[in-house]
Amino acid sequence: MASDRFNPLQGMSDISFPEVAAWQHLESASRQVLHRYGFQEVRTPLLERQDVFIRSLGETTDVVQKEMYTLEDRGGRRLALRPEGTAGVIRHVAGLGQDGANARLYYMGPMFRAERPQAGRKRQFHQVGVEAIGDPDPVRDAEVIALQVEVLREAGLKDVEVSLNTRGTAEDQRNVQSGLREALEPFRADLPEESRNRMDGNILRVVDAKDEASQAVLEQIPPVTTWMSTESLEYLDEVGGRLEDLKIPFSLKPRLVRGLDYYEHTIWEISHASLGAQDALAGGGRYAISMGNRTIRGVGFALGMERTLMALAAEGQAVKPSGPDLFLASLGEAAHRENLKFMQALRGQGVHVRMDLHLRNMKKQMNEANRLDASWVGIRGDAELEQGVLQLKNMDTGDQTAVPVNDVIHHLLSTS
Ligand code: HAM
Repeated sequence: MASDRFNPLQGMSDISFPEVAAWQHLESASRQVLHRYGFQEVRTPLLERQDVFIRSLGETTDVVQKEMYTLEDRGGRRLALRPEGTAGVIRHVAGLGQDGANARLYYMGPMFRAERPQAGRKRQFHQVGVEAIGDPDPVRDAEVIALQVEVLREAGLKDVEVSLNTRGTAEDQRNVQSGLREALEPFRADLPEESRNRMDGNILRVVDAKDEASQAVLEQIPPVTTWMSTESLEYLDEVGGRLEDLKIPFSLKPRLVRGLDYYEHTIWEISHASLGAQDALAGGGRYAISMGNRTIRGVGFALGMERTLMALAAEGQAVKPSGPDLFLASLGEAAHRENLKFMQALRGQGVHVRMDLHLRNMKKQMNEANRLDASWVGIRGDAELEQGVLQLKNMDTGDQTAVPVNDVIHHLLSTS
């Protein structure tokens, strides 16, 4: 196709006007809520050393094994485009030493995974994420889940579902692995090759398999929580209790495991009916990540911005970009000069104003005002200049009145 050279790479998109208005809305709704909860923004590089991801997400995860964009730089260093935000933030926090002990950080921006592109699955996608550093504490976990739900609510989303489970402690995970091995062994022949390989590698990955054959087997074995300690189940109970206190609806999903290895204790996903069964809108959990000689613990989440915007659109919550408050139309050279000065002054006072810089005929100017979706048009010719007024036309009602130049702002504010 001749136009291919103007397209971004497959699975990646240019995000431009008018669609970008919905992105800005989601970003600003997120920031408002994140600041209310006392989180500060951190911006880590898109490119990191590969081992930052391999060590924290886990060597046998799909993200590390199949989905990372990796490269070697001229110095022979093995680098990767970040497939998620947590690892880079934890690298940053590890560098802060004691100062990072209770950091509450958030980030938003692009992530990269070499996945097969489809609706809601991109190779460059965007996340809003948070990491609240600190030792295991069910109250903090509940607070972070509440924060995530609140971000989605503030963005305008109504029908989200929170699924909650636990990964238990590192010791529980060893018990889960041996329990799973025993439970899955009789079904080995029924599993597809990929799941059989997972059984011999990282068996928890089998529980995360999405294909039908594996799903059918998984329904016949006990959920992972069967092999967990009472303490871990009590921890989960405590998280659930606090969520009830905070009036955050959730369902316990004992089969939920999530696809990254750094989790311990609480894990959750948030889904939306419009995205289908497999595609979570957001996911998070409590984790322990080792960086150098330090182990950093915390709890966090990331929401997929593309999927959140799809869910908002499915709920009919499309964001319409706003046009100019005022379009200045000029009849004649003298009015055009005055309008340029007036536009500058109004912009200085915070009004969104546009005009036709080339002074085309009135019909073309009005067409431009319509195309831009201006709320008002202010028309001036020699007569208006002489009287010190503007003919202000309300583009919704079509009503037009002469308004003294000094009253224009007041008029726009009082009637909008
Ligand atoms: P994750 O579940 O891998 O978790 O990703 C979080 C969200 O990012 C998903 O629920 C989804 O909405 C979105 N997402 C993931 N991959 C894609 C893709 N290829 N295309 C579009 N959207 C996608 C994490 O990334 C963890 N770092 C979350 C976390 C933070 N856990 C603790 N702290």
